[in-house]
Amino acid sequence: MRKRVGIIGAGPAGLLLSYLLSLEGIDSLVLESRSRAEVESTIRAGVLEQGTVDLLKKIGLGERMEREGAVHQGIELRFDGSGHRINFHELANGRGITLYAQHEVLKDLIAARLKQEEQPILFNVENVQIAEITSDQPHIHFQHEHEQKELECDFVAGCDGFHGVSRAVIPEQGHHIFSRSYPFGWLGILIQAPPSSKELIYSYHERGFALISTRSPTLQRMYIQCDPLDDIANWSDELILEELQARLESKDQWQLQVGPITQKGIVAMRSFVIEPMQHGRLFLAGDAAHIVPPTGAKGMNLAIADVRHLARAFARFYQQQQTDLLETYSTTCLRRVWRAEHFSWWMTSMLHRFPDDDAFQQRLQRAQLEYTVSSRAASTSLAENYVGLPFTW
Ligand code: APR
Ligand code: PHB
Repeated sequence: MRKRVGIIGAGPAGLLLSYLLSLEGIDSLVLESRSRAEVESTIRAGVLEQGTVDLLKKIGLGERMEREGAVHQGIELRFDGSGHRINFHELANGRGITLYAQHEVLKDLIAARLKQEEQPILFNVENVQIAEITSDQPHIHFQHEHEQKELECDFVAGCDGFHGVSRAVIPEQGHHIFSRSYPFGWLGILIQAPPSSKELIYSYHERGFALISTRSPTLQRMYIQCDPLDDIANWSDELILEELQARLESKDQWQLQVGPITQKGIVAMRSFVIEPMQHGRLFLAGDAAHIVPPTGAKGMNLAIADVRHLARAFARFYQQQQTDLLETYSTTCLRRVWRAEHFSWWMTSMLHRFPDDDAFQQRLQRAQLEYTVSSRAASTSLAENYVGLPFTW
């Protein structure tokens, strides 16, 4: 088998890359270890930046998102029982966010890619191994339907997430890893209930952080800060709802809307970046190269920004025989990556209770929250980062 670009992983990064390359007439094959059904049903985040939405619309992938997604023009920061709205529309020049689940984006991408050509994605592949990545003819070995296969390509795109195999082929020498883990995780639920709020609520509380998000008029997504090593079996539905109610307490008439919890799980939180995001003919994109804690909802948006650059760089290589955009790929992406790393770390630090924090640290957090909601300059900074900086960042 031969394709110009071999893509490992059918997450937002790998699928969007293959779609964008096809629009440029560049052939590729996506190798995915999970089944299509699993990819299309895994619950992840659901906030799309304005630039992500504009890109998906421009390339013909916006139809269902516009119909089923919800545009939000602000968020609420809640502390000391009071809510404070950050008005994106006013502070970020009419820009907003769209709530549309990541797996819905993936369903749209897979359907669109399958319309473009036959078998552009192989699901259920095993033992993916990258070879000769520093030569100009790299190979990918893998198993599919019990047969050993080999894909020859010009380039490999490592879009296989944080636990994939791509990053592991990069030698330590010449690369730097930056990482931070946090002493808490998020317990996330899906709950069949009407929305508890028109917009997302990020709540700082002495019992820990809580977040109200949404998926549809009848399905809501909510999170509470918890011990990252805790067992989900320790959390009954009653306990989760009790904790949400307590952490979102409000002096106003606010009520948590409840119903059956249909899904629950705990995720750990970390920040991580590898520099550069390239080795020989291997280009990393998305979670394979960087992770942010979910507090700023940047993960999927960063993956999309990476592959937008990567698709342009490949197009320039094949159409104009220029390698300049491939050479600057990592530097270009890392500027935006570090901005998002800072924003996500900052939101996380401001809104969570850290087990080792003393009263001094907590007073600093409160001072930061008060400044953020009352200074137009500070609110504007939050708003423009949340809706997403232009792709030129
Ligand atoms: N071989 C083939 N596929 C693999 C391998 C492997 N060895 N390892 C992982 N994969 C697949 C995973 O099954 C997954 O479908 O790669 C895909 C990676 O997708 P994501 O983890 O979604 O990563 P990415 O496309 O970079 O998107 C980042 O998705 O995970 C969220 O929070 C994250 O929002 C962020 C966004
Ligand atoms: C989500 O809806 O899953 C979500 C929303 C906001 C975040 C993280 C996740 O910051």
